[in-house]
Amino acid sequence: KKSPLRVAVTGAAGQIGYSLVFRIAAGEMFGPDQPVILHLIEIEPALPALQGVVMELEDCAFPLLHGVVPTADLDEGFKDVNWALLVGSVPRKAGMERKDLLGINGKIFVGQGQAIARRAASDVRVLVVGNPCNTNCLICMHHAAGVPRDRFFAMTRLDENRAKAQLARKAGEHVSAVTHMAVWGNHSPTMFPDFFNARIHGRPVPEVISHREWLEKDFLTTVQQRGAAVIKARGASSAASAANAVIDTVRSLIQPTPGDDWHSVAVCSDGSYGIEPGLICSFPIRSDGRSWHIVPGLPLNDFSRARIQASVEELKEERAMVSELLTRSA
Ligand code: NAI
Repeated sequence: KKSPLRVAVTGAAGQIGYSLVFRIAAGEMFGPDQPVILHLIEIEPALPALQGVVMELEDCAFPLLHGVVPTADLDEGFKDVNWALLVGSVPRKAGMERKDLLGINGKIFVGQGQAIARRAASDVRVLVVGNPCNTNCLICMHHAAGVPRDRFFAMTRLDENRAKAQLARKAGEHVSAVTHMAVWGNHSPTMFPDFFNARIHGRPVPEVISHREWLEKDFLTTVQQRGAAVIKARGASSAASAANAVIDTVRSLIQPTPGDDWHSVAVCSDGSYGIEPGLICSFPIRSDGRSWHIVPGLPLNDFSRARIQASVEELKEERAMVSELLTRSA
């Protein structure tokens, strides 16, 4: 019998948390024979709402759920955790500049990185979802002294899934026919969903969808603006699909990637494809179930290179905006 995994979710009383924690407890992330203990981390004012989530978890009578630790204390929250899913952050309010948001949310990830380094299990892996997720992940990694860099991830899987859905719809195929979708760069409207290297039933997308102008314009804008479109329609930002992408991201990292496919997640750049080492950038990734690597040698044309470059420039700008949070020693 497997001993329980400890999984921390920050912002657990928020929208994404409300979808995510039930799916983890149901076994969708780690499988039907892996018990879990959920560490639900919130800020003090959200603790009453979090208590409601705890009550509902109890009322689900999940066979795999072996404990819940609701807390606003980071040392308690990250104690012995094997996974830290960092969802909690402050939403952008009207009139707030990007720089303000970067500063406010960036600070959250200083303390969380330090607490993870102090308290988490030696095999801890960290997935940052709270935006701006790439830069928040960079800050967290910087302050988590002693935790290897290959344990840090920021989420671009929702962009991958959105891109696959749009391509499938255009080609009139089921979404499962779309594979090899690499999202490059920052999780922001500058990210580049690489339709050149993606495939539909194993054939290059530009061969199946010959409408090049649609691929270069409508497709890219639809994927890049999808989050805004959901907000407009729903009056709230993507939550169930974001939680679903968290599940997909973790599963793709802990299970061997099938065939010669790949998935997208932002990791610490090792200089692959000329992207500055140390930036948290989205790449095509393969996993053997334990370790992962960036898929090498994918062809990139001028169109792709220009877009990836623009997104990487944005990552550098974001890093410059939070430089104060990166110079202080951990
Ligand atoms: P939400 O506002 O419903 O929930 C956020 C929760 O985080 C709140 O309950 C809040 O109390 C909590 N929180 C704030 N500061 C915290 C802290 N220091 N420690 C612990 N908890 C804290 O937001 P929602 O919709 O759940 O989204 C969460 C984040 O995920 C947002 O930053 C959003 O932009 C981001 N997101 C990222 C996506 C991606 O693809 N990477 C996709 C969708 C959302």
